[in-house]
Amino acid sequence: MRWLVTGGLGFIGSQFIRLVLRERAEVSVVNLDAMTYAGNPANLRDVEHDPRYRFHKGDICDAGAVAEAIGPGVDAIVNFAAETHVDRSILDPKDFLHTDILGTHVLLEAQRERGVRRYLQVSTDEVYGDVAAGDSTESDPLRPRSPYAASKAGADLQVLAYHVTYGAPVLITRGSNTYGPRQYPEKIVPLFVTNLIDNQPVPVYGDGEQIRDWLHVEDHARAILHVLERGKTGNVYNVGGANPRTNLELTRLLVEGCGRSMETHVEHVTDRLGHDRRYALDTAKLRALGWSPRVPFDEGLRSTVAWYRANESWWRPLKTGEYLEYYKRQYAQR
Ligand code: DAU
Repeated sequence: MRWLVTGGLGFIGSQFIRLVLRERAEVSVVNLDAMTYAGNPANLRDVEHDPRYRFHKGDICDAGAVAEAIGPGVDAIVNFAAETHVDRSILDPKDFLHTDILGTHVLLEAQRERGVRRYLQVSTDEVYGDVAAGDSTESDPLRPRSPYAASKAGADLQVLAYHVTYGAPVLITRGSNTYGPRQYPEKIVPLFVTNLIDNQPVPVYGDGEQIRDWLHVEDHARAILHVLERGKTGNVYNVGGANPRTNLELTRLLVEGCGRSMETHVEHVTDRLGHDRRYALDTAKLRALGWSPRVPFDEGLRSTVAWYRANESWWRPLKTGEYLEYYKRQYAQR
């Protein structure tokens, strides 16, 4: 079997490819990745010479690049490729609409033309919007509130429309906040850990009482594989870790885990525009399909901190150049 994975040099995509190569001997993987700021070849250095792995540099918005990556054919397409950072979408939404919506459209057309037997869209709990109480189920209305979440919701709706209109064999996973090794240091966990290692303060947005549900990247990758292999086409599956924490609770775990103190290392900064207070997922549907998360949160967070400590050579080069430019723009706006 041959699978096309897009955005496979990113955080979750690279974990997925590593998992597939390790546990599915019958599958070879073609990775199509545009190598934007978040696509890092170092994420797959350990498998780059695997004969079952092929890399194609290219953009999912480019139908020619997609056709070339598909080559003689693939049995499945798994779309991880996306612009994903909420703060960047607030600064500049255009790339999000382009990659997340148009890119998904190009892949759906490729699925249709080539008769690919399975298409999985990696989506997010953010499409449900702010959830004051209770848990979002897969049939809840989509109420995205950031340009990022709106672009992902637009993509989800295209995917589902292709199922209704053309009978496309699609699946969608909607994951919660994911953490673990190899996450680009703009997201809260790697940003805070790398700042703390460097004895720098960490910026908590607003009152820090916002709630996110935390899911280890290995559990997220396994969930996507599970849905790809066992999900019922036309369906959406929520993927959550059942570890809700306020940002302040998470911050305390990270600050203390890095041997620093809340008094000296936490800086309260202006809130994110339109900041969602809470996301929460009902994951009964995926659990009924046989998946459940395996990594306990405390253990996962401890090993994640240890990974960033042991892998400075992975993240230090990332906190330069484009990254510093982004932070300059980010803080100029606040
Ligand atoms: O919920 C799933 C989503 O999780 C994914 O779809 C997104 O791609 C991913 O970026 C993430 O979105 P969030 O906005 O929740 O993640 P982020 O790490 O940016 O922020 C987590 C929370 O921490 C959020 O409430 C904002 C807050 N925060 C974030 C940063 C970067 C801070 O307080 N300070 C910060 O410096």
